[in-house]
Amino acid sequence: MSHDPETLRRALLAALSSAGGDAVEDPVASGRVQDLTVDAEGAVRFALQLRAADPGALVKQLRGAAEAVEGVSSVKVNVQLPRTAQAAPAGGGGLKAGSVPAPTPRPGILADTDHVVAVSSGKGGVGKSMVASNLAVALARRGLRVGLMDADIYGPNIPLMFGQNDRPQVVGEKGSEMIQPLEAHGVKLMSLGFLLEEDQPAIMRGPLVTGVLKQFLEQVAWGALDVMVVDMPPGTGDAQLSLVQTIDLDGAVMVTTPQKVATGDVRRGVKMFERVNARVLGIVENMSGFTVPSTGEVFHLFGQGGGEALASELSLEFLGSVPIDPAVAAAGDAGQPTVVSAPDSDAAKALDAIAARVWEQVTA
Ligand SMILES: Nc1ncnc2c1ncn2[C@@H]1O[C@H](COP(=O)(O)OP(=O)(O)OP(=O)(O)O)[C@@H](O)[C@H]1O
Ligand SMILES: [Mg+2]
Repeated sequence: MSHDPETLRRALLAALSSAGGDAVEDPVASGRVQDLTVDAEGAVRFALQLRAADPGALVKQLRGAAEAVEGVSSVKVNVQLPRTAQAAPAGGGGLKAGSVPAPTPRPGILADTDHVVAVSSGKGGVGKSMVASNLAVALARRGLRVGLMDADIYGPNIPLMFGQNDRPQVVGEKGSEMIQPLEAHGVKLMSLGFLLEEDQPAIMRGPLVTGVLKQFLEQVAWGALDVMVVDMPPGTGDAQLSLVQTIDLDGAVMVTTPQKVATGDVRRGVKMFERVNARVLGIVENMSGFTVPSTGEVFHLFGQGGGEALASELSLEFLGSVPIDPAVAAAGDAGQPTVVSAPDSDAAKALDAIAARVWEQVTA
């Protein structure tokens, strides 16, 4: 049966109008749904401008409603998050409301993933895995389909941070088996940590590292994703470089702590991305200061302002700072990223605002 695109368009608008239920104002009439297009094959695209009060499930509901319309073969939603005051860059950029960027086909690996964002540093122990986990969960809570790949095959942390240590299932026919990612807090996860025995060291040399990671990307049944977050290993050596070249990144988020030694390493990290023409989205300063809960006094244990100074020196956006919070460390150990375990903490709010800004950048 063939469907006239105009008839299909009308059916879609009707379905989207009522999809949010009584809880939200009509998404079409209120102008949240924009630039709806349908092609002759039934491929649908539209932009969705979310508002701050919208429930996280709205994106899913609208996608589901569109997919359920007869004659629709695929649905792409270009989600635009509400601008958060904290994440707004100085001077204000202004959302390009309603713009649906042309699809950029990702050849081969991650063909069904719209955006890939790496979280990196150059330096170890600065909070890359913490930032990557929280970015992934914050975006999933806003209704996006999110994957998180632990590319740190020497010291994979993601299983612990998500409280996951099940073994992934292998699915599919013999000869074309795929590894099923695990899922926690709405994020699809893959880590070499899932495939190794607990006491088995991941002793691998450079070329092997790239091989394993390529396999991750090719043989994991990620499904369609709006965004893949990659938790990068520390350092700026060959392994990191070939990883950046293997995955077609939209950009990298660089994490630093405030002190000078850390910013030096991050500078080298930024250079590495620039050398392979990968865009650096901006700098996050982690462990920025500790507020004594009882007195409100702030201690800058690792110095102050290093991230912001580095961002301005390198003409990069400063994406925000995350304070030291014992809840962040506890959250990681308990398998619950901070945006889930302590959503009202300053750290969680900062991480959520950083996630919104990162999404804005890759979809702008
Ligand atoms: N803002 C914070 N407040 C308190 N603890 C934090 C904060 N950020 C990170 N941590 C803790 O610091 C430790 C290091 O963080 P994390 O593992 O994310 O760093 P990393 O850069 O990924 O390290 P590696 O280089 O080993 O991969 C973890 O125990 C984490 O829970
Ligand atoms: Mg890590």
